[in-house]
Amino acid sequence: MLSHFFSDQLIQWQHQYGRKGLPWQGYQSPYLTWVSEIMLQQTQVDNAKPYFIRFIKHYPNVQTLAEANPEDVMRDWAGLGYYARARNLHLSAKIIHQQHNNQFPNSIEELIKLPGIGRSTAGAILAFGFKQRGVILDGNVKRVLSRFFGIFNNPHYQRGNHFYWQVSHLVTPTIDCDVYTQAIMDIGATVCHVKTPQCQICPLQSKCYAEHYHCQHHLPIKKLKKKPKTLKKLFILPVKSGKVGLTRQHTSNIWKGLWCPIIIDTTTSVFDFSHIHYRHIIKDLKHVFTHQTWKIDCILVYPPNDLHNQIDAWYDIHQLDQIGLPKPMQTIKEMIQYEKNLLHETAETT
Ligand code: ADE
Repeated sequence: MLSHFFSDQLIQWQHQYGRKGLPWQGYQSPYLTWVSEIMLQQTQVDNAKPYFIRFIKHYPNVQTLAEANPEDVMRDWAGLGYYARARNLHLSAKIIHQQHNNQFPNSIEELIKLPGIGRSTAGAILAFGFKQRGVILDGNVKRVLSRFFGIFNNPHYQRGNHFYWQVSHLVTPTIDCDVYTQAIMDIGATVCHVKTPQCQICPLQSKCYAEHYHCQHHLPIKKLKKKPKTLKKLFILPVKSGKVGLTRQHTSNIWKGLWCPIIIDTTTSVFDFSHIHYRHIIKDLKHVFTHQTWKIDCILVYPPNDLHNQIDAWYDIHQLDQIGLPKPMQTIKEMIQYEKNLLHETAETT
């Protein structure tokens, strides 16, 4: 049967060519699997590795994470982006600590009740963390399935996506499910590339639909892409006696819990900052989110009184390494650290 050929070939291939020695491999631990899967949702393996190692060093199990200070968790996540992931990790750890006596639930139904754990992550936790049968479906898996089986359903619609889940269920084996799961992830990431599939080294080549009909580049069906919107932002970073003033993001935006300068949207309205005494301007920083790009100018300002009430805390430049900063603010921090006199010059000469 085609589905057996598919899973058998992948399992064999994994033993010989799959990725090994990743820091989250080699343990049977639902906790380690969970943390790694959440990190890997939007982060490449090589980027995730050092974050994972540090995170596990600081929080080696559910209990330590549950009892951690949220500020520390955000700091350890800072730079990975998509911060809701860190907030949900912390929240879920507390639930597992309080309601499940630190034991990870081992059923799909219980797992997907936890904040931040969707069906695919739950499947990976079952497969890797419990060595049970668990079914996954992410972008890589959809690509491999659609090309091999010739699936032309649109995965961006609910019905199409449902069909992909059915196929993934059908082909996921009971025996060696963990090996199979890692294999389909790895073949998607290292062989069945989006733009340059390496069909000549693929173990599925002989029965692959897309290879036979030369339609690899048409599968899976693509979403019509909207061009990301570009927004202009002005960051106002108050400076006083060698310290910078930051605000804590409270509203439920993407950077909730992180420390930021005062942020003003200048996309459609001109913000007149001629009355503000700024000594330095860092121009044209670019930050790319999924649906929008920010073009950022940052001014370092000796604080006029009317900024004081917008600032939550003053930080010495060295303390900035210990708090959660969003990526562009980390870049600004590094620039300031590199040119150490920036802050003092600003403070003294204004
Ligand atoms: N992407 C998501 N989960 C992964 C894993 N376990 N290994 C490699 N890449 C992944």
